[in-house]
Amino acid sequence: VIEETLVLVKPDGVARNLTGEILRRIEAKGYSLVDLRLVQADRELLAKHYEEHEGKPFYEPLIEFMQSGPTVAIRVAGNRVIEGFRSLAGTTDPTTAAPGTIRGDFGRDWGLKVQQNLVHGSDSVESAERELALWFG
Ligand code: CMP
Repeated sequence: VIEETLVLVKPDGVARNLTGEILRRIEAKGYSLVDLRLVQADRELLAKHYEEHEGKPFYEPLIEFMQSGPTVAIRVAGNRVIEGFRSLAGTTDPTTAAPGTIRGDFGRDWGLKVQQNLVHGSDSVESAERELALWFG
C-alpha cells in the first residue's frame, strides 16, 4: 500500500548537521522525497501538531524546544512508509533505541525535560494526513 508520511528533522537534528544523513537513510531504504521545506515553526503550528500531548509534563518543553531553530519537514512516499520510517527512526528514548536506527545511532539522552530525539514520523494514516496538511498546507 503506497502511503505518504510526514518526517520532521527536529531542531536538534538540523543543528547537528544530520539532515543529509537522515535524508540519505530515507532514500537508501527506497522511499521517495515528494516535498521538503525548512520551517521555523511557531507556537500555533506546534500546538496543532502536538495537540494529543497537551497537558503532559513534557508538552511545554517540547513546544519550546521545537521553536529553538529551524525544522526540516519532508513529505515521504512509499509502500508502508508510515511504519517503515518509524522503524528507521527507532524508539522514542534515544538511550535504548536500537543501534542501526537514526535515534539509536545519533541520539542521546541529554537529561532534559524533553527527549531531543532528532526526528518525528507520523504514527498512522490519519495522523499523516492531518500533519501533512499542517506543515505543507
Ligand atoms: P515525537 O515523535 O515528535 O512526539 C512527541 C515528542 O515528545 C517525542 O517525539 C519526544 O520528543 C517527546 N517525548 C515523548 N515522550 C516523552 C517523555 N516521556 N519524556 C520526554 N519527552 C517525550
